[in-house]
Amino acid sequence: MRQWGMFFRQFVKHPGMIGSVIPSTQALVDAMLDEVDWDRTRLFVEYGPGVGTFTQDILRRMHPDARLIAIDLNLDFVAYLEAELVDPRLRVVHGSAADVRRFIKEAGFSEADYILSGIPFSTLPDGVGPAICAETAAALRPGGAFLVYQYSAYVRRLLAPIFAQIAERTVWRNIPPCRIFRALRAEALAEAA
Ligand SMILES: C[S@@+](CC[C@H](N)C(=O)[O-])C[C@H]1O[C@@H](n2cnc3c(N)ncnc32)[C@H](O)[C@@H]1O
Repeated sequence: MRQWGMFFRQFVKHPGMIGSVIPSTQALVDAMLDEVDWDRTRLFVEYGPGVGTFTQDILRRMHPDARLIAIDLNLDFVAYLEAELVDPRLRVVHGSAADVRRFIKEAGFSEADYILSGIPFSTLPDGVGPAICAETAAALRPGGAFLVYQYSAYVRRLLAPIFAQIAERTVWRNIPPCRIFRALRAEALAEAA
């Protein structure tokens, strides 16, 4: 309940940035994270962790040698996560997902295996959504995946020009039901062809 209270207060303060009144359900978290090849993942990036609804489960599933960078624009969420989730594999960053490549470099990596986003693309200021999608594609390794959950199909038009392959489905056991997208960065050989 403390998490929900914290989340709701932030929604009242910044509705466009948060985009939802309550955190995601466990059914949505499982649907997204079941798609990940955890054995092959060494760097996972999360955009918009909020109160850590996904973050905790990512850490639970992640390899002991893997790293997680969680990026949030909201300083209150960043402070909350730093206090609540103590794990040497986690780096919580205050900033925008649009700067993901800088944050990856600062953490000592060159590219990510997976990037998962909880950002409300349809309510972001003009130009921010396309910039985040372009930066994300550049930050992923060839064959890496961008996993996105959204309450509308709006984000598809941002993903389509950039990613090689996009799969979409609906998770009904969420409030409200949610669309999830898996967008793949092209493999190097296909890119060169
Ligand atoms: C709908 S909440 C998702 C919270 C949590 N992941 C969940 O599923 O319950 C959206 C989150 O995106 C963050 N956010 C919005 N714009 C952002 C940006 N440009 N970069 C990073 N985080 C952003 C908000 O601060 C908020 O934490």
